[in-house]
Amino acid sequence: MENVSQAEFWQQRYETDSIGWDMRQVSPPLKAYIDQLPESAKHDAILVPGAGNAYEVGYLYEQGFTNVTLLDFAPAPIADFARRYPNFPSEHLVCADFFELSPERYQFDWALEQTFFCAINPQRRDEYVQQMAGLLKPKGKLVGLLFDRGFDHTHPPFGGDVEEYKQRFESHFAIEIMEPCYNSHPARQGSELFIKLQVK
Ligand SMILES: C[S@@+](CC[C@H](N)C(=O)[O-])C[C@H]1O[C@@H](n2cnc3c(N)ncnc32)[C@H](O)[C@@H]1O
Repeated sequence: MENVSQAEFWQQRYETDSIGWDMRQVSPPLKAYIDQLPESAKHDAILVPGAGNAYEVGYLYEQGFTNVTLLDFAPAPIADFARRYPNFPSEHLVCADFFELSPERYQFDWALEQTFFCAINPQRRDEYVQQMAGLLKPKGKLVGLLFDRGFDHTHPPFGGDVEEYKQRFESHFAIEIMEPCYNSHPARQGSELFIKLQVK
């Protein structure tokens, strides 16, 4: 398995433009989710972990969400985002390892998952669940997309299915929604689950 837990692995992918996962647009189901949020959500503390080029962060910012944190441990996409959004608050651009983020320092109302879970070493999935629950406020939510398929390779993305995800997430989250996504990007049609999970 390639060393997906090292920032250098991902940084190199950005430097060589080997970023096949990058949709160069806000993910349609996440845009639809964001668009139906009430005005009162505009000040929610939102985490976008493993955000990469962070089209979702850009979209949230453009829609007037004031407290969005972009997290990635590869510096290249963060620098690029800062160039595209020069007025985005720099303290909300966090270049750090998700697994090392301190829940004492960071607490969020909700987090947006988009091809981050599938990028980590599958052996760290329970660690992801525990860390994510710790970074969310009581009753905080994890919203987003997970792959609903397996992959025949030993590099990211790493797939999964409802049975596995339920078994892992139910230790820390109540599952409000985990169902096939009906409005995926055409390239991911039929291969994604939309999830909305609440910290227990
Ligand atoms: C497959 S890419 C997805 C990027 C973005 N979410 C998208 O959909 O375009 C995975 C991202 O997660 C980041 N990443 C992987 N492991 C990480 C970790 N432990 N902490 C922070 N970022 C991480 C990588 O640098 C990369 O930008």
